[in-house]
Amino acid sequence: MVSRTLLAALVAGAAAHPVIEARQSAVNQTLESWIQRQFNISLDSAILNIGGVNGNVVEAAGTGYVVASPSTINPDYFYTWTRDSALTELMIVDELIFGTERVGNNSLQVVVEQYTRAQARLQTVTNPSGALWPAGQGLGEPKFYSNGTRFNGAWGRPQNDGPALRASTLMEIAEAIFRRNPNAPTIVSTVYWPLIYNDLLYVGQYWNTSSYDLWEEVNGNSFFTTTAQHRALVQGSIWAQRLNKTCEPCAQAPQIACFLENNFWNETGNYVLANINANQVNRSQINCDPILAAMHAFDINATCDAAALQPCNSKTLATHKVWVDSFRDLYPVNNNATAPSPVLTGRYPEDTYYGGNPWYITTAAAAEVLYDAHAQFTKAGRITVDRVSLPFWQDLVPQVRQGVYHSPGNGTALLDAVKTYADGFLSVIQTYTPANGTLNEQINRTTGEPTSAIALTWSFAALVTAVDRRNGDFPPSWGANSTTANNVSNICSWSAYNSTTKYAPVLALGASPVPTPCETEVILNLLYATGPGENTYIVGNTSVFGNTLSNTSAVIQVLRTNNVTNGNPQWFVPAWLPAGVPLEYKYVVLNSTDNTYKFENVSHFAYPPACGNNTVVSYLVNGTSLYT
Ligand SMILES: *[C@@H]1O[C@H](CO)[C@@H](O)[C@H](O)[C@H]1NC(C)=O
Ligand SMILES: *[C@@H]1O[C@H](CO)[C@@H](O)[C@H](O)[C@H]1NC(C)=O
Ligand SMILES: *[C@@H]1O[C@H](CO)[C@@H](O)[C@H](O)[C@H]1NC(C)=O
Ligand SMILES: *[C@@H]1O[C@H](CO)[C@@H](O)[C@H](O)[C@H]1NC(C)=O
Ligand SMILES: *[C@@H]1O[C@H](CO)[C@@H](O)[C@H](O)[C@H]1NC(C)=O
Ligand SMILES: *[C@@H]1O[C@H](CO)[C@@H](O)[C@H](O)[C@H]1NC(C)=O
Ligand SMILES: *[C@@H]1O[C@H](CO)[C@@H](O)[C@H](O)[C@H]1NC(C)=O
Ligand SMILES: *[C@@H]1O[C@H](CO)[C@@H](O)[C@H](O)[C@H]1NC(C)=O
Ligand SMILES: *[C@@H]1O[C@H](CO)[C@@H](O)[C@H](O)[C@H]1NC(C)=O
Ligand SMILES: *[C@@H]1O[C@H](CO)[C@@H](O)[C@H](O)[C@H]1NC(C)=O
Ligand SMILES: *[C@@H]1O[C@H](CO)[C@@H](O)[C@H](O)[C@H]1NC(C)=O
Ligand SMILES: *[C@@H]1O[C@H](CO)[C@@H](O)[C@H](O)[C@H]1NC(C)=O
Repeated sequence: MVSRTLLAALVAGAAAHPVIEARQSAVNQTLESWIQRQFNISLDSAILNIGGVNGNVVEAAGTGYVVASPSTINPDYFYTWTRDSALTELMIVDELIFGTERVGNNSLQVVVEQYTRAQARLQTVTNPSGALWPAGQGLGEPKFYSNGTRFNGAWGRPQNDGPALRASTLMEIAEAIFRRNPNAPTIVSTVYWPLIYNDLLYVGQYWNTSSYDLWEEVNGNSFFTTTAQHRALVQGSIWAQRLNKTCEPCAQAPQIACFLENNFWNETGNYVLANINANQVNRSQINCDPILAAMHAFDINATCDAAALQPCNSKTLATHKVWVDSFRDLYPVNNNATAPSPVLTGRYPEDTYYGGNPWYITTAAAAEVLYDAHAQFTKAGRITVDRVSLPFWQDLVPQVRQGVYHSPGNGTALLDAVKTYADGFLSVIQTYTPANGTLNEQINRTTGEPTSAIALTWSFAALVTAVDRRNGDFPPSWGANSTTANNVSNICSWSAYNSTTKYAPVLALGASPVPTPCETEVILNLLYATGPGENTYIVGNTSVFGNTLSNTSAVIQVLRTNNVTNGNPQWFVPAWLPAGVPLEYKYVVLNSTDNTYKFENVSHFAYPPACGNNTVVSYLVNGTSLYT
C-alpha cells in the first residue's frame, strides 16, 4: 500500500519538472541497477579525490590528503578538512573490512595507510587554532591546504569534531589491522595508539568548550560534535584496555553523555536541537546535524535506548520527520510533496549558502539513518511506538498507534514502510544525479540542477555508506552497547581533563619533531556586542596570531563564545605563549555579510607568566567604544 502511494507521488512530482523527466528517460534504470552502478562510481570517485592515488583528479594534493572537491573556484574547496577526511576514510576502511572489491587499482589498505601518515604530519602543523605543543590547540584546526600546509584565512575555528572523528577512524583502521593479523598488534600499540591518543587528549581537554559546528557557521555546542566526542572517548577506553594502556582523558565520557542527554531535546518541537550555547539566535536548530550524529553513533549491537543516540531511538525518528518536513514546502523542486513522499533535503531550513539548497549528503543521510533503524528493529524483533515517535510512524502507516509491535508479526508493515521510505530518498537522489554519476555538493532548489562544488568527496562517501547499510553491511561494533558507553553521570559536570604538555608528535609515522619551549597560558577576553554577520578575531605578533597587527590576509584567530550572552557579550581565546615574552595584539571584527574588517586603532599587551608559574592571567578589553 505504502509503496504504491509513494511511487505515485514520486512519478507525479517528477512529471512536473522537464529537467527531471529528461534525465529520467536518459537514465531509466531501476533503483536496484542504478544503486549498484552508483555505488561503484561513488567509491571510485571518493578515492580519486585523494592525493597520491593512481589517476587521481587532485594532482596538486599531497599523498594521503583527502581533498573536499577538485573545485578551485566558486567555490574553492581544494583543501583538506579534518572532518570530511575522517568520514571519508572511515567509509574506506569499512570497505576494506567488508572485503569490497576495488573498482580501480588502488588498494584500500594503502589508501588508509597513506591517510594515517598524512594525519601524523598534520597533527604537528602550527596553525591559526594554535600548536600541538603544549596544549594541543592546533588539533582543532578545521582545514589545511591540500599539500598539508597551514591555511591562514579567516575561518570558523576551532572545529572540535575533527579530532574526535579522526580518532574513531584511526581506531577503525587499528581494528582492520587486528582482524587481518590478531597476533601482531605491536604496530597498533606503538604507532597507531600515540597518534590516536593525541586526538583523545584533545577531546578530553576541550569537549566542554564551544567550537564551530560541522557546517562551519555556528559557534556553540553541536549535537553532532558532542556525539563524535562521546564515541571517541568510549572507543578510546575500550582500545586502551585491549592494548593494556590507560586513557585518562577517556574518563570524561560519562560527563559528555550527561551533557548530551540533558540539553538537546526540544520537548515542544519534538526534535533534537542541533546546537546549544550558540551564536545564531534566529534559527529553529532543526538540522541534519542530529541525524548525522545518530548515523555516526550507529552500532548494530546497541539497543534503541543506548546513551549514544541510536537511529532506532524514537527521538531520532521524531527529528527525522521534523527535519524532512521543513523542506517539503521550502524547496520549489519538492513541489510541496507531503509525507510519505520522500523529498530532497538540505542542512537546515534557514540555510542561505548558495541560496539555500538541497544537498546530496543530507538526502543520503535521510535514507541511511532509516536503513540503520530498520536493521536495529529487525535485530530486536520489536518496535516500540511511543508518543515521541508516533508522528513519524503515522506518516508511513496512518493507522499505527502507540504500543509494541513485533517482527515478524504486526510490526512487519512498519518495517516494510521504513525500508520503502528509505529507498525513496535514494530514488530522489537518482532522479537528480547526472547520467555519469557525478555528485556535486548541492542541487538547485528551483531547477533540480547540480550546483555548488563539483565531485564532492563527502557526497560520494555518503552515497556509499547509505548503500552499504541498505545491503546489510554494518561497521564493527564501536561499543555503544558497552557499560562504558552507557555510563552516564547522574549530575552533569562541566569537567575536563588537563592534557597540557602530554601531546607528542608521532615520529614513527613521519611526523617532524615540534619545538617544546616553556609556554604559559593567558586568556584574552573581549566585551563586544556583535551585529548580524559579525564575528570577533584577534591578530598579534606571534606565529599563532599571524605575526601581524594589520594584515587581513594573514592569520586571524577567532574568539570563542562560551561566555557570550545577550547581557554579557564576552568573547575569549585561551593562548599558550612563550613564557615571559609579552604579546602585542589587536582585536578585529569581520562582517562576513559584506566581508569588511574593522581593526582596533590601538594595540594591547599581554604578559605570559614566567616559566614554572602556572597562574593563568586573564586580560579583558571593553570593545563597546571601538571600531567606530
Ligand atoms: C523506461 O523503460 C521502460 C521499460 O524499458 C519503458 O517502458 C519506459 O517507456 C521507459 N521510460 C522512459 C521515460 O524512457
Ligand atoms: C601549498 O599550497 C598553497 C596553496 O596552493 C601554496 O600557496 C603553498 O605555496 C604550497 N606550499 C608548499 C610548501 O608547497
Ligand atoms: C595485555 O596483557 C595481557 C595480560 O597480561 C596479555 O595477555 C595481552 O597479550 C596483552 N595485550 C597486548 C595487546 O599487549
Ligand atoms: C523548540 O520547538 C518549538 C516549537 O517548534 C520552538 O518554538 C522553539 O523555538 C524550539 N526551541 C528551541 C530552543 O529552539
Ligand atoms: C546489549 O546490551 C543489553 C543490555 O545490557 C543486552 O541485553 C544485550 O544482550 C546486548 N546486546 C548485545 C548484542 O551485546
Ligand atoms: C507550496 O507551499 C508554499 C509554502 O507553504 C506555498 O507558498 C505554495 O503556494 C505552495 N505551492 C503549491 C503548488 O501548492
Ligand atoms: C538556481 O536556479 C535559478 C533559476 O535558474 C537561478 O536563478 C539560481 O541562481 C540558481 N542557484 C544556484 C545556486 O545555482
Ligand atoms: C502486536 O502483536 C503483539 C503479539 O501478538 C501484541 O502483544 C501487541 O499488543 C501488538 N501490538 C499492537 C500495537 O497492537
Ligand atoms: C558528468 O556530467 C556532468 C553533468 O552533465 C558534467 O558537468 C560533468 O563534467 C561530467 N563529469 C565527468 C567526469 O564526465
Ligand atoms: C554483535 O554482537 C555479537 C554477539 O556478541 C557479535 O558476534 C557480533 O560480532 C557483533 N556485531 C558487530 C557488528 O560487532
Ligand atoms: C566567563 O565569565 C565569568 C563571569 O564573567 C568568568 O568568571 C569566567 O572566568 C569566564 N570564563 C571564561 C572561559 O572566560
Ligand atoms: C594543566 O597542566 C599544565 C602543565 O602541567 C599546567 O601548566 C596548567 O596550569 C594546568 N592547567 C590547569 C587548568 O590546571
